[in-house]
Amino acid sequence: MCGIVGYIGKQKATPILINGLLSLEYRGYDSSGLAVIENNSIAILKDKGRVSNLEELTKNCELTSHIGIAHTRWATHGKPSKENAHPHLDNSEQFVVVHNGIIENYHELREFLTQKGYHFLSQTDTEVIPNLIHYYYSNGIADEDPFLRAVKSAVDDLKGSYAIEVISKLYPDKMIVVRKDSPLVIGKGNGENFVASDIPAILSYTKDFYLLDDNEYAVLSADTIHFYDNTLSEHSKAIKNIEWDATAAEKNGYEDYMLKEIYEQPNAIRETIGSHFTLGEKCSFDDLSIEKDYLSTINKIFIVACGTAMHAGLVGKNAMEKLCHIPTEVDIASEFRYRDPIIDEKTLCIYISQSGETADTIAALKLAKSKGAKTLAVSNVIGSSITREADYTIYTHAGPEIAVASTKAYTSQVVLMVILAIYFAETLNSCDTSELESLKSDILDLPSKLEAVLDETRTIERFAKKIYTEHDMYFLGRGSDYYVAMEGSLKLKEISYIHSEAYAAGELKHGPIALIENGVTVISILTNPNLVEKCISNIQEVITRGAKTLVITNQKLHNVHFDFVVNIPETNSFISPILSVVPLQLLSYYIAKNKGLDVDKPRNLAKSVTVE
Ligand code: AGP
Repeated sequence: MCGIVGYIGKQKATPILINGLLSLEYRGYDSSGLAVIENNSIAILKDKGRVSNLEELTKNCELTSHIGIAHTRWATHGKPSKENAHPHLDNSEQFVVVHNGIIENYHELREFLTQKGYHFLSQTDTEVIPNLIHYYYSNGIADEDPFLRAVKSAVDDLKGSYAIEVISKLYPDKMIVVRKDSPLVIGKGNGENFVASDIPAILSYTKDFYLLDDNEYAVLSADTIHFYDNTLSEHSKAIKNIEWDATAAEKNGYEDYMLKEIYEQPNAIRETIGSHFTLGEKCSFDDLSIEKDYLSTINKIFIVACGTAMHAGLVGKNAMEKLCHIPTEVDIASEFRYRDPIIDEKTLCIYISQSGETADTIAALKLAKSKGAKTLAVSNVIGSSITREADYTIYTHAGPEIAVASTKAYTSQVVLMVILAIYFAETLNSCDTSELESLKSDILDLPSKLEAVLDETRTIERFAKKIYTEHDMYFLGRGSDYYVAMEGSLKLKEISYIHSEAYAAGELKHGPIALIENGVTVISILTNPNLVEKCISNIQEVITRGAKTLVITNQKLHNVHFDFVVNIPETNSFISPILSVVPLQLLSYYIAKNKGLDVDKPRNLAKSVTVE
């Protein structure tokens, strides 16, 4: 939910910290700050608002330090303000900390420290951490590494989730980091090392990464990185080379990341299809060894995720049920984890998460594992937390997604779920080969069809101009079109702050039609030939009541007048959401632009929701 960066090396730390924070700003942007060790004391700069405010502050002071930590915040405990912004110091100003996550027992710890004479300057849960470190450092037993020992003792007291960076003016050449249920990566350079919540933040400096595990400590100097488990016994760790291109995480001439990512969809789909199949050959997943013997025992699939990823799961459910004949349910992770779902070893639980760090999704995965089910993660981030928890992992290859509103990750998730369903169906012999081959052929045509949809951008832009001042909109569809309506409605809320609802078109008469009055905008998705007539009747009902209509369709519609029609290419109905969602992504984008909003960083939202 927040983003952290760290640097230790030979260069000036401040510009590297600011660069890192700018690329992590999608994780939180209500305040930011940094701490460096300057002339044997800790210098802190922080401010409310965007990282650009902090950047301005750095221009007014000459910071030359080669070690520093930094943070961009998305408030959980304590309002967005300068005093609540990280980094936080201990009372003696010897230790300074940035933290991502939530300390659940901070009231208790604050109470304990207050009794010991400590005082607090912020309302944050984080401020207990540097003070605990100081407490253990000053009361600690003799140890060959008292700094590390004090950090470990403090961390032992914490309940909750955390990624923590600590530096101390007593140890100006050392940085300690630790994580639990919150992401943290270490980038290895030449005579310098980097820390970040997410790979793109430091990708322009190195491609060699260590992915820190839960309850693992790393102690960094400019030239070394030592890893310790939670008993502080040292171990070695494998390095990972990340192939992402740093420029892929930049805007490449687009006005916003979201627009860039919308336009990257043909390629993201191409990459995600990758080499999973060619026509006439069975689907394969290199790292997925799910045997027929196991798959035949599965009598239930749960697909669990949050937000847009959950919408991708709904589309995936259709393919799973129809191609594999396995009953499939889709759950919201935050509900699933607390509703005591019926799960056993005959259940397969699939978790979809772009970031692989969503707290509820990870908790829902751990729950299923504890009940004996096998778990499969679908993620876009190699080595992310969810992939390390799951029994099996498959990856979308959408490349880094920076805009808070998910676009290319969604379409990549949908295509991968459908390919997975084909793979299962081929393993189980549950579906006619010619049907699967025809679906595969349609999947291979998706990138060029997506390019054709993107050519319709101007029509959407015109429609957006007409409706951007409205306050309520409705999205309708049946079957998979309804799932796309849900995604379209979420996108609109997220980035244009317009209230909207998605309804299964058949539900209209059961209540929502009461909301339709003159001039209200109703957006409908019509791609399933078997359901088109029924859906048109529903749209007629809203037209009669004065609604303005936008229809997204791959069908020839006669004898009905809609205000705007966006034609998209025909394709198999399992994958039509990949095409029909694009005009809706563009619509919310252009509405937000017309309203002058920051589309990449919508208010109150963060890209990775790493807290409950
Ligand atoms: C998408 O536009 C949203 N920002 C959000 O719903 C997102 O899909 C959700 O938080 C899940 O994230 P994940 O895929 O990283 O788990």
